[in-house]
Amino acid sequence: TRRITVRDLLAAKERGEKWPMLTAYDAMTASVFDEAGIPVLLVGDSMGNVHLGYDTTVPVTMDHMAMLAAAVVRGTRRVLVVGDLPFGSYQEGPVQALRSATRLVKEAGVGAVKLEGGERSLAQTETLVQAGIPVMSHLGLTPQSVHTLGYRVQGRGDEAAHRLVRDAKAAEQAGAFAVVLELVPAEVAAEVTRSLHIPTIGIGAGPDTDAQVLVWTDMAGLTNGKVPRFTKQYADLRATLTTAAQSFASDVLSGTFPAEEHTFH
Ligand code: KIV
Ligand code: NA
Repeated sequence: TRRITVRDLLAAKERGEKWPMLTAYDAMTASVFDEAGIPVLLVGDSMGNVHLGYDTTVPVTMDHMAMLAAAVVRGTRRVLVVGDLPFGSYQEGPVQALRSATRLVKEAGVGAVKLEGGERSLAQTETLVQAGIPVMSHLGLTPQSVHTLGYRVQGRGDEAAHRLVRDAKAAEQAGAFAVVLELVPAEVAAEVTRSLHIPTIGIGAGPDTDAQVLVWTDMAGLTNGKVPRFTKQYADLRATLTTAAQSFASDVLSGTFPAEEHTFH
C-alpha cells in the first residue's frame, strides 16, 4: 500500500468526489482513522487546546508539532499526513517558513504542511512549493490570529467575501494544493469552491466544499464542554471513557479486579 498524495486529492476534485479529513495527535488514534479509511489526517495546532490544555493555538511550538506529527506518521500506513506550521514558525518570512516546513518533512515525515493566510502568506507558500513541499492554505477564521479576529464567522458582507475569494485564488496561484475554509458563510465557501481548481476543505463552511474536516475529539464526543455548532458528534467517547474509568475504580475498591484470570502464580 502506498500513501495518499496531494495528486490523489486533486484527481478527486476533478471526479467531483468529496472526502473527509480529521485531526490526529497521536499514533494510536491515527491508526484507527487510517484503518477506518480516512484519507487525510491533519496534525493540527489545535493540539494546543486538545492535547496540551492551552486556551488557544498560539503557544504551540515546532517541538510540539514535530513530536506529535512523527507519532501520527508512525501510526499510519495509508493516509496523507498534513502538519500545521504553528504560530511564529513562518510569519517572519519564506526562509523561516522553509526551515520549519523542512523540519516537519524530514524529522516527522509529513507529506504536506498547512499555514494560515492567503495573500499575507504568499511568499512563504511559493517558497515551500518551489522546494517541493505541498502546502495547504487556511483561510476564514484563522485561529493563530485570535487576538485580532476573535472567534467569529469571517467573510460576511460583500467586501469580506471578495477578500476571501481573492485570498483563495492567491493561495492557488502560489501553488497551494488545497484550501481550508473555517467558519465562513456557506454561500461564500461555495463560491470559493467553484472558483478554484484545487479542493476546498470546510469546517463550519456549509455543505458545498470539496472536503470536510473536524477536530477528532469534537467528532467523537470526547471534548470537555461545549463544542461549536458546526460540529456533529458521532459518538459519546467522554461518557464511554468515564464509565470505563469508574468501573475500573470500583472493581479495585471492591477487590473484584484483578480476578484469577488476571493473576500469575
Ligand atoms: O488545527 C486544526 O485543527 C485546524 C483545523 C480546524 C482545520 O487547523
Ligand atoms: Na490549525
